[in-house]
Amino acid sequence: MPGPDPRRPLGPASLPRAFDAHARSYDRMVASNRRYHDHLRLSARRMGLARSSGLRLLDVGCGTGASTAALLDAVPGAQVVAVDASAEMLAQARRKNWPPGVRFVHARLENLDRAGITGPFDAILAAYLVRNLPDPDAGLRVLHDLLRPGAPIAVHEYSARDSLRSRMVWDAVCWGVIIPMGRLRSGSTELYRYLWRSVREFDGVGAFTDRMARAGFTDIRTQTMTGWQTHIVHTFLGRRPVEDDPALDADAGRPADLADVETPPAGSPSVG
Ligand SMILES: C[S@@+](CC[C@H](N)C(=O)[O-])C[C@H]1O[C@@H](n2cnc3c(N)ncnc32)[C@H](O)[C@@H]1O
Repeated sequence: MPGPDPRRPLGPASLPRAFDAHARSYDRMVASNRRYHDHLRLSARRMGLARSSGLRLLDVGCGTGASTAALLDAVPGAQVVAVDASAEMLAQARRKNWPPGVRFVHARLENLDRAGITGPFDAILAAYLVRNLPDPDAGLRVLHDLLRPGAPIAVHEYSARDSLRSRMVWDAVCWGVIIPMGRLRSGSTELYRYLWRSVREFDGVGAFTDRMARAGFTDIRTQTMTGWQTHIVHTFLGRRPVEDDPALDADAGRPADLADVETPPAGSPSVG
């Protein structure tokens, strides 16, 4: 599978093609980060979902299925629609064993309706996706509109801009470990240099929470991870406002079927 045009710098439009080219080495790359899967599970759990097999969940930018597995860890037996723009990343995901409620769909977030993916979803996980979108504001609005009123989203994402220490750790990890390892595993450093640059340029925590608010989310909270990822990788939590439900009488409070969406547990690692 040829990668993107080497004469043009990698960016949101060409990124799915770059993931196509790296799909076969992706799982080995993330396996060398021993907290990768733990952190995805943490973000999925932080949505505080009931372990009800009736829930319909969206994993957008599912890649090889690591975030799909994290959603299933939080809600075993859920119905999960897992979407990705890279056919090769999806091919890697489909090779794994999944319960019957999981469906993989090849589509860009920007064209989900054309792929027949419509809401409402009871929760959405977007792991390492939003930073890569051509228009993150528009992408967040799409995700907001796909949620059932009152339902949560977890955006699992790098955000290092607000802290000098975070930026220094990020530079050291990228140039000392990730980029050299990318060269060894895949023969190319382009995707991993893009990763370094895109995180360097992406929103700080304050800017990203403002972005979520502008997209219409409410109840926005941020929690960070453990290890070197502390204050570098975050779960950005939010909800579609309950008031968005046209069926809801403003004085009547929450509809009964929202009772299974709980506030995330207290005592998770520190606020990012
Ligand atoms: C870094 S991977 C993360 C995969 C997975 N969520 C995980 O946590 O391991 C980002 C994924 O987002 C996908 N992606 C990038 N832009 C996208 C878009 N506009 N719509 C859908 N998927 C996209 C890429 O193809 C890639 O598989």
